[in-house]
Amino acid sequence: MDKLLVTGGACLNGTIPISGAKNAALPILAASLLLTKPTQLHRVPHLRDVTTMIQLLRNMGLDLSYTPEKNRLDIHHATANHFVANYDLVKTMRASIVVLGPLLARYGQAEVSLPGGCAIGSRPVDLHLKALEQLGAQIRIEHGYIYASAKNRLRGADIVFEKITVTGTENILMAAVLAKGNTRLQNAAREPEVTDLAQFLNKMGAKISGIGTDTLEIEGVDELTGGDYTILADRIEAGTYLVAGVVTQGQVKIEGINPDLLTVPLQKLQDAGAVLSHGDDWISIDMRNKTIKPVDISTAPYPGFPTDMQAQFMVLNAIANGPSTLSENIFENRFMHVNELNRMGANIHLNGHLAICKGHSTFVGASVMATDLRASASLILAGLAAKGDTLIDRIYHLDRGYEMLEKKLNHLGAHIQRIKG
Ligand code: EPZ
Repeated sequence: MDKLLVTGGACLNGTIPISGAKNAALPILAASLLLTKPTQLHRVPHLRDVTTMIQLLRNMGLDLSYTPEKNRLDIHHATANHFVANYDLVKTMRASIVVLGPLLARYGQAEVSLPGGCAIGSRPVDLHLKALEQLGAQIRIEHGYIYASAKNRLRGADIVFEKITVTGTENILMAAVLAKGNTRLQNAAREPEVTDLAQFLNKMGAKISGIGTDTLEIEGVDELTGGDYTILADRIEAGTYLVAGVVTQGQVKIEGINPDLLTVPLQKLQDAGAVLSHGDDWISIDMRNKTIKPVDISTAPYPGFPTDMQAQFMVLNAIANGPSTLSENIFENRFMHVNELNRMGANIHLNGHLAICKGHSTFVGASVMATDLRASASLILAGLAAKGDTLIDRIYHLDRGYEMLEKKLNHLGAHIQRIKG
């Protein structure tokens, strides 16, 4: 297994581009199951999760060609002849669940392994299944698989999610676009990645309104066509690099990102003492000779503070000049990074879904282990701010969600070396 060796102490300085968003690319790739005409996708990030999704779709019979160096995916032929998402792939990427809606909508059948939990929580999909049944699907769960079918065409329904679910909203969107009649989905997720999927579907011929709000109205159509689409930029990647600039007291500019996608995290960075400037598609942060101030964080569905940035801000709070609290309200176990950060010198203690950071810590390099995607990113950030070397194991977690992470950070002056394992 590869490891990353991070030598701390450099103040990051420079400009890097932001890649396409993993959490937009995955549902949009799954939506290719709905298409009847050739399609080109641009700014498809070269990540493990993306190549896993491509493999999944190829196993279903789709004819795709991916050019990683151009971040381009060509969907030549999107007709499936196999409607199964096997456990061996789903266990490595639980977002595979988003093939369920499009398979049911287009082919009336699907066999998808239950994703199972992961490090950050049990990750149930009960809300997905309940909503699909409201659209007329028959769902059976056996041997760890979801067996779904729709004898006739799915039919529109009025659905209210009892909890906001990002991939649940995405599954229902993709199921409803080809259903007979209209669907109203209330308490829908408003994450920008959901909006990107909805805009992609409309460009392919769907009729979705209320995009960006918590109530989506979908008028079912007979088929979707194809075309050209550029994936949204990754706001979580963007936030991760801005925090890297803060914790190393450097000056970092990120390009290809709309600041409106990060309103709350940017406010928190300013509260932490950073000087921010931005244009329509770039953000710059200056933390040189500034004191890092603690910021209280409470994660929430969009447009609230994103749970995918909680681990990164914990690194900032660990070395800030005072105490702070981080409340993780989305997942039940998303503090796996705390033990490792404490081993590097942080002073954080947990009380249920609350993490209390004492602050005033100094990170010292250590051997640590990544547990999940964003926790891995926080270990890198701590390593950058630490005295000495940090050796991070199990970085396959990182490779799932960050394109060329060490290349981008080294371009900013970091010293990160990948040690082939
Ligand atoms: C998506 O996961 C993202 N993944 C996650 O990003 C992100 O952290 C999460 O949304 C929240 O923003 C992708 O988009 C591929 P949810 P998802 O369904 O859709 C509960 C990353 O690091 N719930 O919005 O799986 C669930 O347990 C990843 O990129 C049910 O109870 O999250 C959680 O507590 C990590 N029943 C809450 O809802 C359900 O049927 C939100 O989960 C579905 C969800």
